[in-house]
Amino acid sequence: MPDPKAVNEFFSDIAPGYDRANRVMSSGVDVLWRNYLARRVNATQPKQLLDLATGSGDVAFTLAKKVRSAESIVGLDFCQPMLDMAEIKKPKKKSASIIQFRQGDCLDLPFEDDSFDSITISFGLRNLADRHKGLTEMLRVLRSGGSLFVLEFTQPDKWLRGLYYFYLKHVIPTISGAITGNENAYEYLGSSIEQFPTKAEVAKELENAGFTSVSHKGLTFSIAAVHSGVKAG
Ligand SMILES: C[S@@+](CC[C@H](N)C(=O)[O-])C[C@H]1O[C@@H](n2cnc3c(N)ncnc32)[C@H](O)[C@@H]1O
Repeated sequence: MPDPKAVNEFFSDIAPGYDRANRVMSSGVDVLWRNYLARRVNATQPKQLLDLATGSGDVAFTLAKKVRSAESIVGLDFCQPMLDMAEIKKPKKKSASIIQFRQGDCLDLPFEDDSFDSITISFGLRNLADRHKGLTEMLRVLRSGGSLFVLEFTQPDKWLRGLYYFYLKHVIPTISGAITGNENAYEYLGSSIEQFPTKAEVAKELENAGFTSVSHKGLTFSIAAVHSGVKAG
């Protein structure tokens, strides 16, 4: 499991170039994945939303635009430089005024039980030092009937794996290192994706944490996936 201090340092270091590196690495497909995530959230009509590991805020901004029922969105991250980027980027539009960014740890959420109708975590679960603890915290702060949506990299379809892992190991660190000035952080990205459990294993982890109606859907040849689970009523 990743060391939280090292993870925080990585993200502090790459924060200013994080968005640009994302767009280049994924050729913009990450935007489509976040839009899909927001459409799934919108279908559940939540009012109080929590976006964990919010980073530079892209999911929170997408949720504010696309979830019509949203009354408040909290974006939480433990890395202050990423949150600083989110504050700088926050649109002046009325829809974004419902977003509040807050520093905090996904493993010890600073919220009462049953506080949110919907929780999202995008490219964050992989970085948690203790996924079971993180997932049980998410279940605790979710209201009965509320949903968790996890957007995360996963193992792609078999035919693509060789090429994809080559890209992760040899191409991404060079390109993203040039953009962010930190090649090591992107070597970490590759190894953390390769070591991450399969979709079926993540589904089991959600069930073990107490979520029901667990499902998953692969996106773009299963380079990424959206996992979801519900807190039973
Ligand atoms: C790859 S970024 C994802 C950012 C954003 N969700 C996105 O989709 O672009 C992962 C984020 O997880 C945050 N993170 C990792 N572990 C965390 C923890 N235990 N508590 C809060 N944030 C954490 C990092 O600081 C980083 O901003």
